[in-house]
Amino acid sequence: MKTPYYFYDLDLLERTLKILRSEAKNKHVHYAIKANTDKRICRMISNYGFGADCVSGNEILHALRCGFHPSKIVFAGVGKTNEEIEIGLKHNIACFNIESAEEVQVINRLAKQMNRVANVAIRVNPNISAETHEYITTGTHENKFGISCEHLMGVIHLIEDSKCIKLTGLHFHIGSQILNMDNFKDLAQKLNIILSELYNEGIEIEHINVGGGLGINYDNPIDEPIPDFQSYFEVFNQHLNNSLFKYLHFELGRSIVGQCGELHTKVLFVKQGVVKQFAIVDAGMTDLLRPALYQAQHRIVKKNPSGEKKYRYDIVGPICESSDVFGNDYPLEKLKRGEELVIKSAGAYGEVMVSEYNLRAKPNVYYREARSSLEFAIDQQYIMN
Ligand code: LLP
Repeated sequence: MKTPYYFYDLDLLERTLKILRSEAKNKHVHYAIKANTDKRICRMISNYGFGADCVSGNEILHALRCGFHPSKIVFAGVGKTNEEIEIGLKHNIACFNIESAEEVQVINRLAKQMNRVANVAIRVNPNISAETHEYITTGTHENKFGISCEHLMGVIHLIEDSKCIKLTGLHFHIGSQILNMDNFKDLAQKLNIILSELYNEGIEIEHINVGGGLGINYDNPIDEPIPDFQSYFEVFNQHLNNSLFKYLHFELGRSIVGQCGELHTKVLFVKQGVVKQFAIVDAGMTDLLRPALYQAQHRIVKKNPSGEKKYRYDIVGPICESSDVFGNDYPLEKLKRGEELVIKSAGAYGEVMVSEYNLRAKPNVYYREARSSLEFAIDQQYIMN
């Protein structure tokens, strides 16, 4: 197979979805499509009955094409264009997560023109730190996202005065790749305060959307291929006062698809520098941006490990940028030209962030089939015979 290529293990995805569905119970999970828009992956997730969290008009159209029901599609994003809002209105999506007072006025005007009433949730910025990389922290006052608690009542009044908008929920998202459950506990506790204040003002909220953010184990994907959804949901079961709303929604991206994807690449050259030994591979930051952008560290393994002594390599791509590095002083068995390496945990925010910088071709994609579809194929063959 021609490298570099993404390899998706649909069987692992299916096992992940089964566990997620049984752990989520009566909670509503919307898959954050931005994490991976591969059609087979999206179709599989929609088949499991999950909804979609979209951040652009094109994501809404993609979600619809991949079988997500409009009544399970939410539309978030700090900068929605008129055309994108119209797509949401036209398809009667479940909810717009709004992020500014001006957006309320624009959605109200467009909904009126189209003779619709838009359901909205206000994205609240709870000013909570998520102890994650600063580029993927979203819920503090330093971030552009959401409406602060101080401005919340004003926006609620604005919505009350807008005939073509109905307030149904509150939306939160504090960041991504969060592994410390205390951050979610803080969110739940902050939410209780906000909800009881609103209740005292006579404002009832139908649904709460706590966003996504559950992290995955990048250090040890082999031992933890499926995130601990049980402990994650348990935090909200324990700490959220569920007498103050009816429905609880989530927008999970990375935790659903992160571990089912890998980036495969070949060693082009091994070069001994003055202080470093470089393994120059044929995948670059154009194929997987996370290490260059967030200093993310993905596990790298040889496709055919020999079990021999390990050497230290800087695993670097071919792009003309010094940040094009997948691993520094990374321990791997002796490498030589042509050897295939596997960069693990690349299912989320991998292929979707591919760029054509340096006029690079996009990586290919291959799949391992899900067992259920193999069984289905065998059944079909059996029936046909
Ligand atoms: N909801 C909202 C409003 C979001 O902004 C995001 C992610 C999610 C849900 C899904 O979060 P997740 O469950 O995947 O953590 N490119 C970065 C991550 C950016 C996350 C953007 N927002 C990375 O590669 O780490």
